[in-house]
Amino acid sequence: SAPATPDGSGLDTTDKYAFAFDIDGVLIKGGEVIPEAIEAMKVLNGQNEYGVKVPYIFVTNGGGKTEEDRCIQLSNQLEMEVSPGQFICGHTPMRELAEKYNSVLVVGGEGEKCREVALGYGFKDVITPGDIIKDNQDTTPFRKLTEEELTNSKLRNYGEVDIEAVFVFADSRDWAGDSQIILDLCMSKNGRLGTRSETFDEGPPVFFSHNDIVWATSHSYSRIGMGALRASLEAMFRAITGKDMKTIAFGKPQLGTFQFATRLLQQWRKDTHGINKPLDTVYFVGDTPESDIRGTNEFDESGKAETNWYSILVRTGVFQEGTRPAYMPKMTVDNVLEAVKHGMQREF
Ligand code: G3P
Ligand code: MG
Repeated sequence: SAPATPDGSGLDTTDKYAFAFDIDGVLIKGGEVIPEAIEAMKVLNGQNEYGVKVPYIFVTNGGGKTEEDRCIQLSNQLEMEVSPGQFICGHTPMRELAEKYNSVLVVGGEGEKCREVALGYGFKDVITPGDIIKDNQDTTPFRKLTEEELTNSKLRNYGEVDIEAVFVFADSRDWAGDSQIILDLCMSKNGRLGTRSETFDEGPPVFFSHNDIVWATSHSYSRIGMGALRASLEAMFRAITGKDMKTIAFGKPQLGTFQFATRLLQQWRKDTHGINKPLDTVYFVGDTPESDIRGTNEFDESGKAETNWYSILVRTGVFQEGTRPAYMPKMTVDNVLEAVKHGMQREF
């Protein structure tokens, strides 16, 4: 069996391998926990025939609240403690851009939550679509702000601000209004509302926290997600201007996200388990071939991973039995508990 490192719990923690989990479609669906997920976590936490604990992290493309808030929610759903030190969401790596851009438009999510996330990342001047509508109601002919939105939105003359970048942190709750404002900025001179570029190539870049066209919810068929908004915006921009929009996606399957995950896992193993050596294998459990399986496989084959990344596809989310996944996993199983059992069996 694998060499192990004591962590004070009476059980040893393996230093050979670890797990990384996607959330939607693997652990959670439509806000409800997938029952096998609770059992899977117990197995990793030591309730297994090998008498070993296995480190793990969470890597979701989702977002829309602070990492701290999402971990509290996930802790309740999984009935165990999840720490921000073992969690990455779609917008987590965007914090590194807070130094680069001053005034930014932040789009998506519930109420003021994404503004709170952006300010927490250190973005200095955070503007929301609600702020812009409050300044000029004619911006969105069919969207009127609610009383709450009117109270929260910051009144200011947005015709005097250069908005340097757009960040879509979470799914838009108002595609038409948000699309209009993003298009206005992309068609402007240097991100200044109320202006129009003659060349349509002076607007700010638009960053999306991921590119999932669809995602798994409580509906029996996958629902459209942020990648669909991106495709729609690009098509509209092209139809109106004849130019390509400047869009960039974070999240899985980007290799940068897997590199970020590698660093997090190393830090997590060091801080909580006292393990300070590279892993042999990371088992990544996901439901979306285009994001989870593609990213894991490409990172594994990139030569950038010191560790083997082994992709496991589950049948509880976007991927449905009877279709052929667009990216082939190393293993396909029914659910996350089977995925954990498969990885652990491989190690012994
Ligand atoms: O909006 C979130 C969704 O697209 C994917 O989340 O946890 O499956 O990466 P997850
Ligand atoms: Mg998923």
